[in-house]
Amino acid sequence: MSTSTATPVTVTVTGAAGQIGYALLFRIASGQLLGADVPVTLNLLEIPQAVKAAEGTAMELDDCAFPLLRGINIYDDAKKAFEGCNVALLVGARPRTKGMERGDLLEANGGIFAPQGKAINDGAADDIRVLVVGNPANTNALIAQHAAPDVPAERFTAMTRLDHNRAIAQLAKKLNVPLTEIKKMTIWGNHSATQYPDLYNAEVGGKIAAEQVDETWLKEEFIPTVAKRGAAIIEARGASSAASAANAAIDHVFDWVNGTPEGDWTSAAIPSDGSYGIPEGIISSFPVVSKNGKWEIVQGLEINEFSRQKIDASVAELLEERDAVKSLGLI
Ligand code: NAD
Ligand code: LMR
Repeated sequence: MSTSTATPVTVTVTGAAGQIGYALLFRIASGQLLGADVPVTLNLLEIPQAVKAAEGTAMELDDCAFPLLRGINIYDDAKKAFEGCNVALLVGARPRTKGMERGDLLEANGGIFAPQGKAINDGAADDIRVLVVGNPANTNALIAQHAAPDVPAERFTAMTRLDHNRAIAQLAKKLNVPLTEIKKMTIWGNHSATQYPDLYNAEVGGKIAAEQVDETWLKEEFIPTVAKRGAAIIEARGASSAASAANAAIDHVFDWVNGTPEGDWTSAAIPSDGSYGIPEGIISSFPVVSKNGKWEIVQGLEINEFSRQKIDASVAELLEERDAVKSLGLI
């Protein structure tokens, strides 16, 4: 066993028996989410039909004999699963099925994320941090946040780190440079096909990325490849990205808790404070640094006319989603 005598951090994972859950839980238990000396207790939340599968995953977690894993609890009741929770990874969501309208999808997810937000409000620890992965992630995070009025709004975030990592990987491949040469990448807006990966502020070897690629590639290949990568993975794998999504969730929480490296930033969807003209309150992706356990939006970046249009289009989609959940009484 780990010799750490620290109190374990309680991490609640919803959708624990799903694909992302399977790729995520072992990495959390091995210390990659919070740090190699931080013991964890895992609370797994599933729907009743999937509890048995979650039990199977828990058996495998036991069989890894992870020194940092101090306990596993499995629940089909959100109230119990979020009791005393410090980090909540909201992965389980209602997928869009054939013939389902967007309003139906938002309503179905409201039925998941509003009660989970309330359970977080009522039972989570004071230092609770929430990352929503389940789609539509930004708006699901907004629903959960509104159901948790006693929790500071900034503790509710949604994942665009996968998009951020995808953008870095595509650019590094194009320029045939190590990934570590690329800094200051930003994903703006929604985790959807309208997202805007910004190369006008990103740097490669200290120089502006947009100046090192041709404009046609940037506009006609890079942006759509990153923005539609999720759909391309589904097409190729027959299932949505799981290991890369789990990896991005680990990156997001690790940086949130431990801080982002000096001289760089990352992307996360957090409640807007009105920066860059993005309406206050919506959960939009921004360039962010984490300092003292808090996300801060990187200020003062230049937004050219092209970027402005792309950001505005994605923000318009977020506003439509917000208005739809408002009219459903979910926020
Ligand atoms: P999956 O279908 O394999 O697993 C989802 C799990 O959630 C299932 O086990 C299901 O039983 C569970 N679940 C459903 N409702 C629940 C509830 N109310 N409480 C607890 N658990 C519940 O799906 P997956 O591949 O693991 O993906 C999960 C979600 O993540 C999807 O919405 C997917 O679109 C999304 N996703 C987001 C990103 C991102 O970058 N933000 C990337 C990839 C996938
Ligand atoms: C992704 O970006 O890989 C996912 O959000 C795609 C999806 O619809 O699950």
